[in-house]
Amino acid sequence: MKFVRFIMKNAALASVPKHIEHFSKFSPSPLSMKQFLDFGSINACEKTSFVFLRQELPVRLSNIMKEINLLPNRLLTTPSVQIVQSWYIQSLMEILEFLDKNPDDFKVLGEFVDTLVTIRNRHNDVVPTMAQGIIEYKETFPQDLVTNQNIQYFLDRFYMSRISIRMLINQHTLIFDGTLNPVHPNTIGSIDPHCEIGDVVQDAFHSAKMLCDQYYLRSPDLILQEMCSKKKKNLPMSIVYVPSHLYHMLFELFKNAMRATIETHDNSNTLPPIQVMVSLGDEDMSIKVSDKGGGVPFRRIENLFSYMFSTAPAPQIGERTRPPLAGFGYGLPISRLYAQYFQGDLQLYSMEGHGTDAVIYLKALSTDSIERLPVYNKTALKNYKVSQEADDWCIPSKEPLDLSIYKVPK
Ligand SMILES: Nc1ncnc2c1ncn2[C@@H]1O[C@H](COP(=O)(O)OP(=O)(O)OP(=O)(O)O)[C@@H](O)[C@H]1O
Ligand SMILES: [Mg+2]
Repeated sequence: MKFVRFIMKNAALASVPKHIEHFSKFSPSPLSMKQFLDFGSINACEKTSFVFLRQELPVRLSNIMKEINLLPNRLLTTPSVQIVQSWYIQSLMEILEFLDKNPDDFKVLGEFVDTLVTIRNRHNDVVPTMAQGIIEYKETFPQDLVTNQNIQYFLDRFYMSRISIRMLINQHTLIFDGTLNPVHPNTIGSIDPHCEIGDVVQDAFHSAKMLCDQYYLRSPDLILQEMCSKKKKNLPMSIVYVPSHLYHMLFELFKNAMRATIETHDNSNTLPPIQVMVSLGDEDMSIKVSDKGGGVPFRRIENLFSYMFSTAPAPQIGERTRPPLAGFGYGLPISRLYAQYFQGDLQLYSMEGHGTDAVIYLKALSTDSIERLPVYNKTALKNYKVSQEADDWCIPSKEPLDLSIYKVPK
């Protein structure tokens, strides 16, 4: 019996490349906030969601698996990336088993929820494991600009794909596991139709402050201001959004702002507060987090979003005792992906010597909040194939210029 199962498993494994080839030919279907809400509304239909997901999840998984295969071979073959790849293969195989099952069978629907929970747990450690792979690669091989660009391009797409897959899994499992969310009864899965921005700011600030107090024995205060365009005066500052995503971004920004504030005001008895301005317009919900933590040189700003230039110490997998206010150096890049996931963005404006403004832009209207998803196609392929070409701007020489040539002969 065991032997038969082993043969069947190997046969399934052998057919994986064929399935990836097949499903990667489909483009992922981005969902709007409205569609997410409809899936979870009163007449939510588990069967419809099941039928959609058993096709859409393999499509999203296969699209990104094609891109994993385009990574430089020396990165692809690191033990960590191999583990991540095996998780993706395993999860794809598990979902494919539902392709020929009957959507009208309640048992099948129940098994599908269980499978999704297993998959979500399996992929919990994808970010630190992938980060470990990058470190292994960086330690062994000299880096060049093109490879760094490729890895940055890949990881932004890979982590975005992961955010989207987890969103789909969370919605289905939260809505159809048959229990109400006791803490937030009005949420639909992980979406709050009236996500009050000020509340999430307070929550995230409070958590970051506790960490900061533990580590530095002091912490800056918060000043929160809310602005609204005239038309919307007196309405609560809320949008349809995923509070956990917003919390994640704000928590990361607050940790950074607090660390910078404390380290620059080391010798002072008072700390300048962190100021947050929330502004709701017709199109944008903008949240600005301002600190007086000394800022960052303009030249370094883009590097702060890089997975390759992280200055953070090498993380150890399974390690639970990381420095509380700085870890992988992934705080900013991953937060920017969360903002971009529903067509927003996260930008840093810094004045070296003074402080930093970090602005989160979200869409004010749920009709504008549509998933932003990577798709594997010729354009993506071309981006991995860029070669190192000479820059079309002169590179400033570091050598002092020999100005004698300009000297007017006496
Ligand atoms: N508000 C800020 N003021 C000054 N420097 C900042 C600020 N925000 C970020 N930085 C710089 O950018 C770097 C990268 O930030 P990021 O949040 O991505 O990683 P990290 O804080 O080092 O680690 P973690 O993964 O725990 O967030 C920080 O280490 C810090 O040097
Ligand atoms: Mg950080």
